[in-house]
Amino acid sequence: MKCNRLVDVGRRQFLRGGLVATAGAAASTVVGAGEARATPALAQVEYPSNRLANVADLKVNEPMDIAYPDADSPGVLLKLGTPVEGGVGPDGDIVAFSVLCPHKGYILSYSGEDRTLNCPGHFSRFDAEAGGQQIWGHATENLPQFVLRVDDKGDIYAEGCTDLIFGRMSNVL
Ligand code: FES
Repeated sequence: MKCNRLVDVGRRQFLRGGLVATAGAAASTVVGAGEARATPALAQVEYPSNRLANVADLKVNEPMDIAYPDADSPGVLLKLGTPVEGGVGPDGDIVAFSVLCPHKGYILSYSGEDRTLNCPGHFSRFDAEAGGQQIWGHATENLPQFVLRVDDKGDIYAEGCTDLIFGRMSNVL
């Protein structure tokens, strides 16, 4: 009898603790959701707005080496010739990606044949026409894509990045 009462007390305390934890989690979810609405995800980091090139500098399927958001973060600027995910410019076909493989940071190379970025380390492949989606290999993440803007003079600016660049705790150091 005494033993059963103790079990009951224990059960009540356990349930109360669970309710408090659930309420806490709900409260933090509400606060988090409010912040997410007020501030776009990309604005969690203050990205620089860096001019990469002009639309007139690019030729279809000829990659241009760039770096963003700083000199230690190599990337590639591409004009793909058809409108694509995240594409900017008059034809919606200009995109840019980090070329550091999300698996272990090897430098990717561009293949104009199938418009992929390819890793010499363990052979992961990423689709430049599909927002850097991984299509094969060891990597477990898609390729970080740089967010671009084109002004009325045709200058192309990078102003953000969709995912964490390899080897960084924050994309902007
Ligand atoms: Fe690219 Fe391993 S470093 S697949």
